[in-house]
Formats: sequence, C-alpha cells, structure tokens
Amino acid sequence: MNYHITLLPGDGIGPEIMAVAVNVLKVVGSQFNFNLEFQEAPIGGVAIDTTGEPLPVETLEMCRNSNAVLLAAIGGDKWDNLPRHQRPETGLLALRAGLGLFANLRPAQILPQLVDASTLKREIVDGVDIMVVRELTGGVYFGTPKGVFEMETGEKRGVNTMAYTESEIDRIGRVGFETAQKRGGKLCSVDKANVLEVSQLWRDRMTLLSSEYPDVELSHLYVDNAAMQLVRWPKQFDTIVTGNLFGDILSDAAAILTGSIGMLPSASLGASGLGVFEPVHGSAPDIAGKDQANPLAQVLSVGMMLRYGLNEVAAADAVEEAALQVLDLGYRTGDIMSEGMKLVGCKEMGEVLLKVLSSQM
Ligand code: NAD
Ligand code: IPM
Ligand code: MN
Repeated sequence: MNYHITLLPGDGIGPEIMAVAVNVLKVVGSQFNFNLEFQEAPIGGVAIDTTGEPLPVETLEMCRNSNAVLLAAIGGDKWDNLPRHQRPETGLLALRAGLGLFANLRPAQILPQLVDASTLKREIVDGVDIMVVRELTGGVYFGTPKGVFEMETGEKRGVNTMAYTESEIDRIGRVGFETAQKRGGKLCSVDKANVLEVSQLWRDRMTLLSSEYPDVELSHLYVDNAAMQLVRWPKQFDTIVTGNLFGDILSDAAAILTGSIGMLPSASLGASGLGVFEPVHGSAPDIAGKDQANPLAQVLSVGMMLRYGLNEVAAADAVEEAALQVLDLGYRTGDIMSEGMKLVGCKEMGEVLLKVLSSQM
C-alpha cells in the first residue's frame, strides 16, 4: 500500500511533536510494509505569516487529495489581535468544515502507569475509560448570525448563534450510539435542555434515535452537572455525545483525568472517509521551543490515524504498545512527571519511542 499523508505541524510546540510523530510513522511503515509519502503544508499562524491566510486554498486542496491528515496544533499570542477571519483558529475551523469532519472522537483513558500523575485521587481515576464524541462542524462555532454589531445607541453587541438542525443532531447521534455499541453500551448525551431550545431539540432527537439502538443505554445530563460528574466520579461514563462547545470544554476536563492533556489524541471524521488526526491540546506557547512538550498525544493521534484513517490496525497496535512501553520504562515529560521517574524532553521521548518500536519486532 502507498499512502499520501498531509502533515500540518502548525505553531508553538506543533513542529516539535510532529517531528516525533513522523519518525514513528516512518518506522512502522517499514515494519508493516506500507509506503508513506509525506507532504507538509502551512496552517494557522505560520500560514498567516507566509500567505496572509490561516488556511490557504493549497493546504485544503492538499488535504483533500491525501489519504489522511496529521495535524499538530495552531495558535499563539502573536496572532491573537488579528481580525477574526485571519486568526489561526479560524483556519482550523475552516479545515474541519471544508473536509466535512462533523465527528470528533476524543478518548480519555487512564493508563495504569499514569494513575499517580493525575491531580485526582487514585481511586477516582484508576480504570477511567471514556470516549467523548464531539460534534465538530455545527453549533455555536458555526451558527449565524455571528459578529460584533453596532446598535442604534452606538454600543457594540457581540453575537454568536447556537443552532443545530435535526439532521446534524441525528448524524452525530448515530456516531455516538454506534461508538457506545462497540464499547460499554452506555451513551450519555450532554446538553443544556433546561435552558436552551437548541438543546431541547438535541435531547428529543437523541431520545427518538435511541429506539433504533435497543442495545445502548441512553442517559441525559445537563452540561453543568456533567462537568461536575466528570471530576466527581468519572467511571460512571462510557461514551459521551455532545455539541461542539460543550464537547470542547468537557474533553479538556476529561483530559486531566488521564494525567495530562499532553496524552490525549483525537480523530476528526466525516462521511467521506478522509480524517484529520490531532491531539486535543493546543500549541502550548508557554513551553514552545523549550523541548518540554509531551509528544505522546501526537503519537497516539498517529495510532488513531493508522486505525481509523488507514485501517492499518497492526501498526496502530504497535504504536500504542510502544507508547505504553516508554512509560513502563519510566520515561516522563514534565507534564506527567512523578517521583522516581526519568524526566526527558520531547526529543528524547521520541528517541526512546523509536528504540522501543525497533525492538518490538
Ligand atoms: P494548550 O492546550 O495549548 O495549553 C494548555 C496547557 O497545557 C499549557 O500549560 C500547556 O503547556 C499544556 N500543554 C498542552 N499540550 C502539552 C503537551 N503536549 N505537553 C506538555 N504540556 C502541554 O491551551 P491554551 O494555552 O489555552 O491555548 C494555546 C493556543 O493553542 C491558543 O492559541 C489556542 O487557540 C490554541 N489551541 C489550538 C488547538 C488545536 O490546534 N487543535 C487546541 C487548543 C488550543
Ligand atoms: C480544540 C481547540 C479548537 C476548538 C480551537 C483552537 C479552534 O480548542 O480542538 O479543542 O475550539 O475546537
Ligand atoms: Mn479545545
């Protein structure tokens, strides 16, 4: 097999963690006999600096013409005061919309090696295994009207619109139910139906859909309670399905259950089969350029790319196994460091991963 992979390193720690991921991919490619052709393209701040736009059309085209897209992270202070259409985040949203990636899978699983790295007590996090299914191309991120408008009084008013159509809710709902079917059979739909009309429609559609999935136990939670339950007793959750904004917030909260946001991968999928694979975290400007980033969320995103994007399941297993082994060997970046472990930087973590991968065979 021959795969065309578009690499989008982006900003901040993006290029550092991408370098590790690419080396890992090269090794598993040769071990599992598939050929990888990489092409790199700018997105986010680096694209603004070189082309004036956060998502150049050439980048989107290159992504469309590839078998899978591996993205690191975008954003940083340097671009935070630009007009909205030139912000790095706008480029990422345009990529998701442009590729029709309406479903974002964010698995938060605590690895036994990291139970003591979490800020929560061992008995709370030990055994946590949650999949957040986040709607990614609708809701308040994309609803119209949006903007900052001047009123007759001269005062400005900022507007965003949280909107979902029935078909948008149903298609992410199905991903939620089907994901739960393959996991523990429990789906929790998170909304704010006690206040928002859009959430009432969401809840009604989820309830309607559930009759098609009798093997899945559906429950509902309001998002405020869901945030509390996630840190109170996270083991009550199996699969969570929720809208764009609630999913953004809850997946960062779920991330910390696993020890660090530097551990959380994600897969953004649509109807076409082409996916973008990206860590849940951002460009971490506070540690960028210092060789302190944890590359494992990026490496585990490679795992998700191999599994969900390319169907190279054995290679995906090998990558995930290697990530576990480096932790077993005691290597830790700063964000997951605990007593008695060996503190390493991003590069060294990458080198150890390669050694482990090569000795697996
Ligand atoms: P962030 O996720 O970049 O960082 C939050 C905290 O987590 C920071 O302390 C950071 O050092 C730490 N962290 C994140 N990833 C890490 C890693 N791999 N290893 C070790 N520590 C890690 O969130 P933020 O600071 O709110 O946002 C920074 C920029 O990133 C913003 O411009 C934001 O818009 C952007 N962002 C981009 C994405 C993306 O590209 N998908 C996601 C989230 C935020
Ligand atoms: C994420 C990020 C993005 C989002 C931003 C950078 C646009 O926070 O992927 O979680 O809000 O979706
Ligand atoms: Mn986020």
